[in-house]
Amino acid sequence: MPHLGVNIDHVATLRQARGGVEPDPVWAAAEAELGGASCITLHLREDRRHIQDRDLEILRQTVQVKLNLEMAVTDAMVDVACRTKPNQATLVPEGRQELTTEGGLAVAGREKKIAAAVRKLQAKGIVVSLFIDPAPAEVEASARTGAEAIEFHTGEYANAPEGPERNRQFARVAEGARQAHDLGLVVHAGHGLNYVNVRRIAAIPGMTELNIGHSIVSRAIFVGLRKAVREMVRLIESPQS
Ligand code: PXP
Repeated sequence: MPHLGVNIDHVATLRQARGGVEPDPVWAAAEAELGGASCITLHLREDRRHIQDRDLEILRQTVQVKLNLEMAVTDAMVDVACRTKPNQATLVPEGRQELTTEGGLAVAGREKKIAAAVRKLQAKGIVVSLFIDPAPAEVEASARTGAEAIEFHTGEYANAPEGPERNRQFARVAEGARQAHDLGLVVHAGHGLNYVNVRRIAAIPGMTELNIGHSIVSRAIFVGLRKAVREMVRLIESPQS
């Protein structure tokens, strides 16, 4: 049964809309923990559009579950991670114009550069996960970098219309999970997962971690964050087959 990582970036986005101090993603992390989150996930973007350096520093001191830092593969971000030492770093592609992370990291053909970042992070005791599309060539390339884990981008599954296309996208993730597992990689998934589509992904054999932000924070507006997290944990713990 996978555990839940709650992505708190969206709370910081709301704070930045006014440039003030509320709502505080540090509070959000505490509420998420109280709701049963096993991991707090945050993305420190190069343009600092939502999470700030101050957030990462405080969260490193206050979060008692696993802290997962999503980050671009740049020297500056590797330095930040090596200094703050999150439990896990998830390497993601980053485009300045994008609304959110729009696709997986291109690992195939860039193994050398990515492996160098992986080694630097691992030397500080940080577990490394690569956020990739569920494509066989990307899974193979990821294994070659020495990363411990991969996180499958589930956006295409989540956005596909219910029916054959959704089933096709699901099969890509399930097949990728089998391949990754055979190569010794720990399997995570995330992006676009919500209260309707999560159970099928949670039921994939070997699925270890799901990182979910938008749907949980959206529900939290109506029911509160602690309850929204608790409801998602419950769904993940009762996966459909
Ligand atoms: N995992 C990764 C690597 C992401 O970049 C994101 C989006 O920030 C998520 C998970 C969470 O996606 P969502 O907000 O759609 O649940």
